[in-house]
Amino acid sequence: MAGTVHVSIDVNGVPREAEVEPRRLLVHFLREDLGLTGTHVGCDTSNCGACTCSVDGEAVKTCTVLAVQADGSSVTTIEGIGDEGDLDPMQTAFWEKHGLQCGYCTPGMIMASKDLLAHNPQPSEPEIREALAGNLCRCTGYHNIVKAVQEAAQHPRRGEAEPPPVSEEGRETAEEFAAKGTGA
Ligand code: FES
Ligand code: FES
Repeated sequence: MAGTVHVSIDVNGVPREAEVEPRRLLVHFLREDLGLTGTHVGCDTSNCGACTCSVDGEAVKTCTVLAVQADGSSVTTIEGIGDEGDLDPMQTAFWEKHGLQCGYCTPGMIMASKDLLAHNPQPSEPEIREALAGNLCRCTGYHNIVKAVQEAAQHPRRGEAEPPPVSEEGRETAEEFAAKGTGA
């Protein structure tokens, strides 16, 4: 294709080859060309951190990188760290500590948090807050995100912490709701 550049990028352990426009941002390559929509776009101006992924082992805001700059790199997105039934410890910790509400910031928060623990396995609370300063959350007030990172630091391996039965909360609420009647 005229005006395009061939790129070869390992994404979540899978070699991907593509022809991209030189101006194509890595985040758009991941989301639109590969369909990996777990990586979010909150601002496109490097402010929010929603697009954070791991590139060659470092947390990178993928809206700040061109796909051509990632040629030859290994990229890990939120889809690459765990899935239902086999969550990454950081995903489990966010679940357990209620480190999310709407979830829009969460993939980026989790990838940035994993990067922190990869470099500093036992961070202090100020270190956690500083490391996540480039990731914005409009919902949680950050306290439970910090607790989640602390929890993941305590349980860094899969299977060390069981996800709470979140559905129990829903069931309790439903039972309470049923007990009270619907008012209909
Ligand atoms: S979308 Fe990349 S930092 Fe906001
Ligand atoms: S959980 Fe909604 S923006 Fe963070």
